[in-house]
Amino acid sequence: MSKSKKNTLKNTAEMFKSFAQVGIDELTETRQRILGANLFRMPRTWRLKEAAEILAITEDELREIVAGSATKSFSLDQLNAIRDHLGTGFKRPRKSRAHVVAIQNFKGGVGKSITTVNLAQYAAIKGLKILVWDLDPQASTTLNLGNLVPDSELSLEDVPVNAILNDPSDLPIRRSYFPGVDLMPSNGMMQELEQDLLLPEVNNEKSLGNWATRLRNITETLRDDYDLIIFDCPPNMGCLTTNAIIAANVLLSPVPPRSLDRASFTMLCLSLGSLFETLGSNLDMFKIIPTQHDGKPESQIQEIRMREMYGAFVTENAVMSSSAIETASKNFSSIYERAPRGRKPTYDRALLACNAVNEELLQEMFKLWGVK
Ligand SMILES: Nc1ncnc2c1ncn2[C@@H]1O[C@H](COP(=O)(O)OP(=O)(O)OP(=O)(O)O)[C@@H](O)[C@H]1O
Ligand SMILES: [Mg+2]
Repeated sequence: MSKSKKNTLKNTAEMFKSFAQVGIDELTETRQRILGANLFRMPRTWRLKEAAEILAITEDELREIVAGSATKSFSLDQLNAIRDHLGTGFKRPRKSRAHVVAIQNFKGGVGKSITTVNLAQYAAIKGLKILVWDLDPQASTTLNLGNLVPDSELSLEDVPVNAILNDPSDLPIRRSYFPGVDLMPSNGMMQELEQDLLLPEVNNEKSLGNWATRLRNITETLRDDYDLIIFDCPPNMGCLTTNAIIAANVLLSPVPPRSLDRASFTMLCLSLGSLFETLGSNLDMFKIIPTQHDGKPESQIQEIRMREMYGAFVTENAVMSSSAIETASKNFSSIYERAPRGRKPTYDRALLACNAVNEELLQEMFKLWGVK
């Protein structure tokens, strides 16, 4: 059928550009509504009871440490100062290196970004130093951790395009709003790397490495500065994802216990099998994290199948589908940042589930460092 002029959309380019602009405007307004006019995010604090739990001391011991001060709630910086005072701050064994963690699944919407932010913040609360590297041009992790609208507030110099293509030392790392978590931001400009990395002139094995090893070479220079470097991958197996997997020694795949998500995971395993065969290398750790588990009988059956098929590679704990997690995400936040006033049972349940998964993951990574 030939296209009649009548049915042709007028100025398609302008149409999409205007759609992008109204989308950016809406995000900007939503953020302002959430954060207020000055866009300030008050750092999270913990009450004395919670703070004592985090520090693994009794409430009385904590009261004694802060005796004379009227402190009733503690910021993470204060908790870390108390850890320093007690000599219980986290220290990786000498000569150990940061774990480089790729959070990946080529299915969209399975919880990669939420897993990234939750793991990073949980580890930061434990006193670890984290770099979250957002590799997804959709940049939802940058929107959350960076407290900014990626496509209107970040320019080319603010994302690591030049670092990856030309100058590995030009790293636009910034602090996130969460103490202990730094951010390598992303925005739509990162999408161009999917093509540019394959250009022959970019594949200079001698100086910068070939297209697939750029991130590995960069992270090698950062592994002494952080305890965890966590890549939030885009939902595909493109150049950036391949780079992240090659750079990583730990791979985590969030997989909801649903038949289509599991089918997609099978395809992912085919790709990963070929990739690691080509590389001739091995991971130190791989975990499948059941996410968005709604607890229904069908999901339980799917979860059991996952455990039968992949055994100990599935985390013992699962992340449930939770309105608390969803609400936090809608507010460009996470359950570790946002504790609702009066604490709701749904929030507490979600927090416990996330804590259990994150603790399990951290314990495995500690084992790799030889830390108990
Ligand atoms: N455990 C959960 N409970 C409830 N909702 C969830 C949960 N995990 C994720 N979601 C919902 O799914 C959405 C997508 O999650 P997330 O952004 O982490 O997925 P993703 O895999 O990173 O997606 P993409 O592939 O698009 O990057 C969230 O915005 C949230 O609304
Ligand atoms: Mg994501």
